[in-house]
Amino acid sequence: MIHTIALPRPYQNYVYAYPHKTAYRPLTPPPAIAELWSGESRQALSLYLHIPFCEVRCGFCNLFTRVGAPDGLTGRYLDAMTRQAETVRAALGDTEPVRFANAAFGGGTPTYLEAGELSRLCDIAEDVMGADLRSIPLSVEASPTTATADRLSVLAERGTTRLSLGVQSFIDEEARAAVRPQRRADVEAALGRIRDAGIPVLNIDLIYGIDGQSAASWRISLDAALAWRPEEIYLYPLYVRPLTGLGRHTDPVVAERSWDEERLRRYDEGRDHLLANGYTQVSMRMFRRIDAPPRGADDYACQSDGMIGLGCGARSYTCGVHYSFDYAVAPREVRAIIDTYTATTDFTHASYGRVIDGDEAERRYLLQSLLQSEGFSVVDYRRRFGRDPRAGFGAELDSLAERGWLADSGVDWLRLSPRGLAYSDAIGPEFFSPAVRAAMAAYEHR
Ligand SMILES: C[S@@+](CC[C@H](N)C(=O)[O-])C[C@H]1O[C@@H](n2cnc3c(N)ncnc32)[C@H](O)[C@@H]1O
Ligand code: SF4
Repeated sequence: MIHTIALPRPYQNYVYAYPHKTAYRPLTPPPAIAELWSGESRQALSLYLHIPFCEVRCGFCNLFTRVGAPDGLTGRYLDAMTRQAETVRAALGDTEPVRFANAAFGGGTPTYLEAGELSRLCDIAEDVMGADLRSIPLSVEASPTTATADRLSVLAERGTTRLSLGVQSFIDEEARAAVRPQRRADVEAALGRIRDAGIPVLNIDLIYGIDGQSAASWRISLDAALAWRPEEIYLYPLYVRPLTGLGRHTDPVVAERSWDEERLRRYDEGRDHLLANGYTQVSMRMFRRIDAPPRGADDYACQSDGMIGLGCGARSYTCGVHYSFDYAVAPREVRAIIDTYTATTDFTHASYGRVIDGDEAERRYLLQSLLQSEGFSVVDYRRRFGRDPRAGFGAELDSLAERGWLADSGVDWLRLSPRGLAYSDAIGPEFFSPAVRAAMAAYEHR
């Protein structure tokens, strides 16, 4: 008798960080930041500055951001970020040198800020935090209309090594269907300005699974992106999430299965086309041009090293606690959180987050390593956690193998098979702890 194994839904949860912010809760009593960082290594920190402003709210987006910034709000936001940076830098102390291995400005849309404000943002990273932006990788997100020559020139001059442009689709009708109002001509012009600015790495984000998108129109977007020979390309399956513009207007049960199948087809087409055009696959979403310049010195390990986030949408990671501010998607709540942030004078304590115990740290490491194409060394894992990954997660790993999702990569190396990689968003949630799963579910059903 032939047993067929029922496959789970492929698009459940994009696990780019574990635990997800929806599993954070108020920390009581709020720990002092100085205490959280005492005893932490400061040798290879990551610095993340979050700008929660956008010109529009795209229909698919559930990031922490608001539309527009009335009455000098961006200036007040940067003032608050400066106060927060001063507090955090003081909390790190001077007993051990603090070294940032990389930095990123994300959002929202960091380039919503004007050129002079972007300069201030770089000053916060350099003068207050002590990051040497010109000698470490610095990544900045931008949207086409805000990627203007004056902003790009400030960013290039201050050491930006990677500019990530959210394109989503080169087809105007698809951009409209995703409620991302933009025209291809404007996108192409923005790409030209980015190349003119001479920033070494260009990344283009594209989305598949948009209403009205076909194999042929997807190919047009892929080819339009390839024409720029970007050093990196991200292919995102469309997710329609609660409280977003699309989420509010779309019936959640409509043709879910066939939409899954369609996205899987687009994924295969996109991956095959990029692989055939000189790119290698880094993870389910990320592709890098084979002959792209090396990424430069960056010894930060995202699975384990610390991160300092500034701004009210940013998270910070120490070994034992992940923390941030409150999180929301609905406009009124997002605005209230930003207003509270800009009025804050005391940043000495972490009010919101999640304690990461040994089990969660192990899950995080496993997840963030397994979901990369290259997989990970079982020997390194054993050295770090004192046991084999199969000792803690044998049932989960066996079940991946049964479904053909593990590559036959030997006992000392664990890696997903090409099909496993396609199902990354189903695999990730299988490694969530029961406590994180419950906290995320409780957040969704508030
Ligand atoms: C940090 S976001 C936005 C960057 C920038 N603000 C912009 O929109 O141009 C990075 C990327 O995530 C992708 N993304 C965000 N929400 C998504 C969703 N619901 N479904 C699919 N992709 C999504 C988009 O491709 C987006 O460019
Ligand atoms: S996708 Fe980008 S521009 Fe659109 S709302 Fe989200 S963060 Fe803003």
